[in-house]
Amino acid sequence: MSFRPLPLTPELHEYLLAHSTPPDDVVAELITETRAALPRNATMQIGFEQAAFLRMLTTALGVRRAVEVGTFTGLSSLSIARGLADGGRLTCFDISTEYTDVARRYWKRAGVDDRIELRIGPAAENLRSLPDEPHLDLVFIDADKESYSTYWNELVPRTKSGGLLLVDNTLWSGRVVAPQSESDRAVADFNALAVADTRVELVILPISDGLTMARKL
Ligand SMILES: C[S@@+](CC[C@H](N)C(=O)[O-])C[C@H]1O[C@@H](n2cnc3c(N)ncnc32)[C@H](O)[C@@H]1O
Repeated sequence: MSFRPLPLTPELHEYLLAHSTPPDDVVAELITETRAALPRNATMQIGFEQAAFLRMLTTALGVRRAVEVGTFTGLSSLSIARGLADGGRLTCFDISTEYTDVARRYWKRAGVDDRIELRIGPAAENLRSLPDEPHLDLVFIDADKESYSTYWNELVPRTKSGGLLLVDNTLWSGRVVAPQSESDRAVADFNALAVADTRVELVILPISDGLTMARKL
């Protein structure tokens, strides 16, 4: 192939952010609080451009039923919840009350807390409590990488035909090309599983750390 991909330098990333609609006060404060209160874990938060993308996509698709695996302090859930159609619902799965207590505060502040249900505990088990039939319009997976394939296998059958599954960190800082660690291999194995899955068509978008966007056929 002769196509040369664009290297996203720090300067170009800054430019990209400066030429995207800026975050509103709620999002800006959530990002600031997460960085200040959880400096060692703040890199787990999705990028602002991903947050904007999630909200726009949710709105454009008219999403009514959504699931998120991996909520942390709430930026992705806030973005999805704000984009939901009237009467829409988001069910979030996370293992930590410490992180998600922050999320709850921001959901309330943005006036979307009544659209979100949070289930605390290991997501691999808790996802099984969802209805078995295809009922989801949108899925966002962003939790422990070792369980990505499990989450995928629980959620693909529950996604409606035409619905989207988004999976974060699927380029894993580029380490998927030559996996070394257990988490490298988990993400690379997940990517191999997903691309071979004939129930979906998919593209990996080079946004932030890589975002797989899969459409259920
Ligand atoms: C990368 S962070 C999610 C970031 C979030 N999407 C955001 O927008 O800020 C990963 C989250 O997965 C959660 N997590 C890790 N292992 C989990 C498990 N087995 N079940 C459910 N959640 C888990 C962590 O507590 C953490 O909040």
